[in-house]
Amino acid sequence: MTTLPRRYHIITFGCQMNKADSERMAGILEDMGFEWSEDPNQAGVILYNTCSIRDNAEQKVYSYLGRQAKRKHEQLDLTLIVAGCVAQQEGEALLRRVPELDLVMGPQHANRLKDLLQQVFDGNQVVATEQVHIMEDITKPQRDSTVTAWVNVIYGCNERCTYCVVPNVRGVEQSRTPFVIRTEIEELGRQGYKEITLLGQNIDAYGRDLPGVTPEGRHQHTLTDLLYYIHDVPGIERIRFATSHPRYFTERLIKACAELPKVCEHFHIPFQSGDNEVLKRMARGYTKEKYRRIINTIREYMPDASISADAIVGFPGETEEQFENTLQLVTDIGFDLVNTAAYSPRPGTPAAVWEEQLSEEIKSDRLQRLNHLVSIKAAERSQRYMGRIEEVLVEVQNSKDKTQVMGRTRGNRLTFFAGDINELKGKLVKVKITDFRAFSLTGEAVEPLVVLLNDQHLTTQL
Ligand code: SAH
Ligand code: SF4
Ligand code: F3S
Repeated sequence: MTTLPRRYHIITFGCQMNKADSERMAGILEDMGFEWSEDPNQAGVILYNTCSIRDNAEQKVYSYLGRQAKRKHEQLDLTLIVAGCVAQQEGEALLRRVPELDLVMGPQHANRLKDLLQQVFDGNQVVATEQVHIMEDITKPQRDSTVTAWVNVIYGCNERCTYCVVPNVRGVEQSRTPFVIRTEIEELGRQGYKEITLLGQNIDAYGRDLPGVTPEGRHQHTLTDLLYYIHDVPGIERIRFATSHPRYFTERLIKACAELPKVCEHFHIPFQSGDNEVLKRMARGYTKEKYRRIINTIREYMPDASISADAIVGFPGETEEQFENTLQLVTDIGFDLVNTAAYSPRPGTPAAVWEEQLSEEIKSDRLQRLNHLVSIKAAERSQRYMGRIEEVLVEVQNSKDKTQVMGRTRGNRLTFFAGDINELKGKLVKVKITDFRAFSLTGEAVEPLVVLLNDQHLTTQL
């Protein structure tokens, strides 16, 4: 078998945070002179960026790893890396389980990949899982898209939801400064990116760990202030952010979203359960009434805003009645999308060792019932777009029908329409919606929107 030690392949599991980390690690590898290999079997460096949010995500990693570990017996110069949340959770134990591994590195170490690899090339087996202050990235991320980009604004999570591994694997909250965030977005604007999504596991916590308090005793740097601060970056047409936590979501933020034209009318606010007793046992810090008030306030300011969320069914001790309260909330709110999951006990989390764990049968039955309701409600929400003209930012060709392109509305609905990707990629196009499904739309281009060059941008260019 041919060995190509200077080629790399990255396999990413999990959330947007992991995808953003993978793009930065790919940037570091490119900077070191490695080239991307589409085929993992042709790569000399294979990196698994892993997720441990649920047991099935974790198990997937082990089955992939097993295959590459075998390959290593024939190709001694193959470098195997496990990064991300399973790496952090398991640490040294991963080396015992898969001795062929060269490097186990937690998410806080993503930007240190070059140093760590150097240690591996010097002949060491390396584990990097200690809590560290996250270094600013000095290389350019190798981003998947040339139209939309993720921008980390806060790492980690200080919450202690009783089902969740994230605080254990991602560490404490660490905000990046407004200045470095703006600098990154300005660079994205210069490169032609049109949309950015600000990322954090609990993005409402942004800035709490940065110095500075206003005369009224408020933290000087909040997500709301950050939105005002970055809003005029030339070239960027759309701004999104995720994930919002109902406990900290403020009316001030809602007002800012309504006021700032580039901020899209789309809110991702997980509710997890529609039952107050369950919410309490999850340690979420809000009630279903508070959640409803947030959505009502959003809709007062932006009647057409789309709302998406995450929910868990089958939390330990959840009764049929409590589950029905979740169904009720989904019925009442009318979500555009809900990511649903059956509760999975995770190592090191309080709820994992509680008695009253529910059977797999009950969990999967509830999951099916919730999914059914979610798609009915989502289809109702999709229907409101029929006949309307929506602004779609074109991202890619439709992989199933090459005569079509795919983009998103401001409300984040996937939208397909006939067009040439070479001509339309990165353009904002007015599309008349002619058909809908639960989670996507089809339409016809009315005309490309004129994208005005920002004056400021012109002057800096001249
Ligand atoms: N920070 C975000 C979400 C983080 S994890 C928040 O606070 O909402 C993404 C989603 O995975 C969660 O919203 C939750 O719905 C789901 N999840 C987390 N832990 C889980 C577990 N142990 N079992 C099932 N789903 C889980
Ligand atoms: Fe997990 Fe809760 Fe933090 Fe979200 S807020 S990452 S669910 S601990
Ligand atoms: Fe998974 Fe880690 Fe994200 S556990 S969901 S990849 S923060």
